[in-house]
Amino acid sequence: MITPMIAANWKMNLTVDEGVSLINALKPLISDVEDVEVVVAPSFVSLSEIRKALEGTDIRLAAQNVHWELKGAYTGEISPLMLKDIGCDYVIIGHSERRHIFNENDESINKKLLASLKQGIKPILCVGETLDQRKRGETIKVIERQMIMDLEGVFPSQMNNIVIAYEPVWAIGTGETATPEQAEEVHNFIKEFLIDSFGLDETRGTRVLYGGSVKPENIKGLMAQPHIDGALVGGASLVSESFASIVRFQIT
Ligand code: PGA
Repeated sequence: MITPMIAANWKMNLTVDEGVSLINALKPLISDVEDVEVVVAPSFVSLSEIRKALEGTDIRLAAQNVHWELKGAYTGEISPLMLKDIGCDYVIIGHSERRHIFNENDESINKKLLASLKQGIKPILCVGETLDQRKRGETIKVIERQMIMDLEGVFPSQMNNIVIAYEPVWAIGTGETATPEQAEEVHNFIKEFLIDSFGLDETRGTRVLYGGSVKPENIKGLMAQPHIDGALVGGASLVSESFASIVRFQIT
């Protein structure tokens, strides 16, 4: 059995103090939850303080982006070595906001993914189609192309250290969630793709999360799908009670 993952993507929200308060409020609300891996991705400037706030818990720390070089003249960038040093276990790579607002392409996403793996940081690779692509019936083609390019050069033995997040762009921050069936169709494709490309045994532990307007009200229906292994949560992760009730999907 794969351990589900519920990951919070705070995006460009919360000051250091606000983030620490949120973690302190969250901890008692989920202290009795077992068998769910909880991950929090604050902004870069909060990583250090959030790591301290997470001490004594099983909650894992993630960054929201990374550069592919270890050091050098890359003003404004953060290297995988720095993320490792500060205590990150995971890093979100290829989020649609990075692809669409900051023009990240599959080539740079692939470089970031390989560099993170090399430093022992587990990538949470985001893939997803836009509304236009879905309307044109290109969803599966788009996801396949992203997976082929973003995972190029990954060894099958590394697949256990990769998390995939399927995030339909039209469902992010819009309040509009993919139905469990719409999500399941893509998740099923992603799992088949992984098995075909990397082998059944090698990808048994590769979690495929759903992201896009996940809320306490829809998490159960999504998690009931056989190929959805967790969620990447944006807006609803900014309030301790709503994030906690998503984490508690198996209990309440
Ligand atoms: P949302 O964001 O939950 O606010 O839709 C999800 C994400 O972008 O990861």
